[in-house]
Amino acid sequence: MNVSIRGRTRHYRTVAFDAAKNSVRLIEQRLLPHTFKIVDTRDYRETAAAIRDMVVRGAGAIGATAAYGLTQGARVFRGSDLRRFRRQVDLVYATLKAARPTAVDPVNAMDDVRRAMEQGATVAEQQRLALQAAEAFADADAEHCAAIGRHGAALIRSGMNVLTHCNAGWLAFVDFGSATAPLYAAQARGRKFHVFCDETRPRSQGATLTAWELAQQKISHHVIADNAAGHLMARGEIDLVIVGSDRTLGRTGEVANKIGTYTKAVLAARHGIPFYVAIPLSTIDWKLTSGKDIPIEERGGEEVLGAWGMNRRGRREYVRVANRGSEARNPGFDVTPPELITGIITPVGIFRPRQLWSRRRQLGF
Ligand code: MRU
Repeated sequence: MNVSIRGRTRHYRTVAFDAAKNSVRLIEQRLLPHTFKIVDTRDYRETAAAIRDMVVRGAGAIGATAAYGLTQGARVFRGSDLRRFRRQVDLVYATLKAARPTAVDPVNAMDDVRRAMEQGATVAEQQRLALQAAEAFADADAEHCAAIGRHGAALIRSGMNVLTHCNAGWLAFVDFGSATAPLYAAQARGRKFHVFCDETRPRSQGATLTAWELAQQKISHHVIADNAAGHLMARGEIDLVIVGSDRTLGRTGEVANKIGTYTKAVLAARHGIPFYVAIPLSTIDWKLTSGKDIPIEERGGEEVLGAWGMNRRGRREYVRVANRGSEARNPGFDVTPPELITGIITPVGIFRPRQLWSRRRQLGF
């Protein structure tokens, strides 16, 4: 995606790998939209911490970060003992997997890297194959998102108002984004439309990240309070909803996404508004048989009890909003059942959620 800062425009990927320094290069998403900064993680533990603390976030972006992190951890191994090397790789894998539990992309990405490594007969070969596979995952993530854009653009007509939740944009992937890719593709085809970004409390990824991306892309938009969508839908001001997903069950069509997605799906169904979910293939979990088994991340209560922002001196600051002494619950994701979803936009086409399983060959399983 092109980023314009102080009149200069440059293309960036959200996640990249510096092979010479063995470091993972990330956009520091916690500082956006106020400051655009690139950071490097020097070892796999720092990479895992960047995922956990949400320096980088979003399904595909943490998938690519985990793939690079696994490579980073494998590449520092010295020696030729394959058994010791595998133990090291297992430790790195477990550390990165534990960083955030709901999105399945990191697991799918690291499994790709491990499968590729198994083809190597020596430590050095496996290290080389790991990097190659991590780069392939990142490239596929960007290609899948571009293909989602091509399929999803057909849903967007000029004059439409589109609601989106959280940030399933370029920043949540290596490039283009999932839910935003159809918007960018429709814009490239000359269509004029408006986007409502749910602010997405508690971390406000809609207000900070999606709004920033859309502004960069010069797409007309408003940030709305999470509670405003029902009112706008009832007044006929929303025509279409497109969201992303952190884990979509291939066997049932259930969709885990940022907390508040389920509420929007219920509202959309109540008002007869089409509700679409956009996903690359790495977001599909082909194993789980029930949405109840999806691990739902519970984050710290301070995210709900206050908010981060930029103070007048340009410093990032946390302010307490809630009553002092009150505690909070903070589930990060919810699960939307297939009957509330009009279609799943994938890189190979748009399917009904319950069709995923019958189309599994086409979807790469
Ligand atoms: O907690 P986050 O910001 O990592 O959550 C991920 C998300 O941004 C959303 O759930 C998104 O809609 C799907 S990820 C592309």
